[in-house]
Amino acid sequence: MLKTNLFGIDFKNPVFLAAGIMGETGSALKRMGKNGAGAVCTKSIGLEKKMGHNNPTMVEVEGGFLNAMGLPNPGINEYVGEIEEIRDDLKKMGVKIIGSIYGKDSNEFSKVAETISPFVDVIELNISCPHAGGFYGAQIGQNPDLSHSVVSAVKDCVNKQPVMAKLTPNVADIKEIAKSVEDAGADGIVAINTLGPGMVIDIETKKPILGNKFGGMSGKAIKPIAIKNVYDIYSAVELPIIGVGGITMGLDAIEFMLAGASAVQVGTGVYYRGYDIFDKICEEMEQFLIEKNIKLKDIVGGAHE
Ligand code: DHB
Repeated sequence: MLKTNLFGIDFKNPVFLAAGIMGETGSALKRMGKNGAGAVCTKSIGLEKKMGHNNPTMVEVEGGFLNAMGLPNPGINEYVGEIEEIRDDLKKMGVKIIGSIYGKDSNEFSKVAETISPFVDVIELNISCPHAGGFYGAQIGQNPDLSHSVVSAVKDCVNKQPVMAKLTPNVADIKEIAKSVEDAGADGIVAINTLGPGMVIDIETKKPILGNKFGGMSGKAIKPIAIKNVYDIYSAVELPIIGVGGITMGLDAIEFMLAGASAVQVGTGVYYRGYDIFDKICEEMEQFLIEKNIKLKDIVGGAHE
């Protein structure tokens, strides 16, 4: 009932693991696959090994979390070993793999994309981390020309493999960025990355709590902002949209689909409902479709009618 085809690929359901959660090792990804995710997304991986920020890298706030991990990862050459280990098992389970990658420019993105491409089904370009600094993350995704050049460079080097751009909500006009990545040849858009950045100060020590001082906001509180961004993107481009931001229940996923998402990703929700959140959300979505006697594809974009 939940089978979804995106860019010619069949997904057993449209509820995917988002980048940044349980994606540091192959075994963690496999665990999310076993718990019902239709696809699992890796942590964002770059060209070289990166240690990440000092602890604490995450702090809970009302309605969500602030995080600034600092893109910790072992570098792409090392990381593909993690995927290699679990690829066959995930294939047997019918779980697709999304490789999230980052870089500082088109050249770096292309190198990482070329290396990860044979190991994954879909590539996700992280051009939206709000606290990466330098020329990483949102520095790219806030600029239509830079976003265009990264997407088109990666499309040129991955031999027709689907490439999605993950966008930041921290822009004046998300439609402009969405049109620019569509024009560059993106196959899909993932929206949204974390909001902000924000800060929490410990009033006893008088210091910001996060090691990086500030970080991106995720969790339930950002859902209305994610919904509005998906709604706007749907009205601006023809590309399939993967909605992400504050989804914890099946009905949240349905709301994203009404806004225009064809699939969703779940990240912080894992902390709220446990590893089996994917199975739970799928069950809740099915129940909704049965009660209303409708098909999933008939609700995508329904809020625009
Ligand atoms: C990190 C945070 C993000 O929001 C993101 O998109 C990528 C990386 C991090 O801190 O590692």
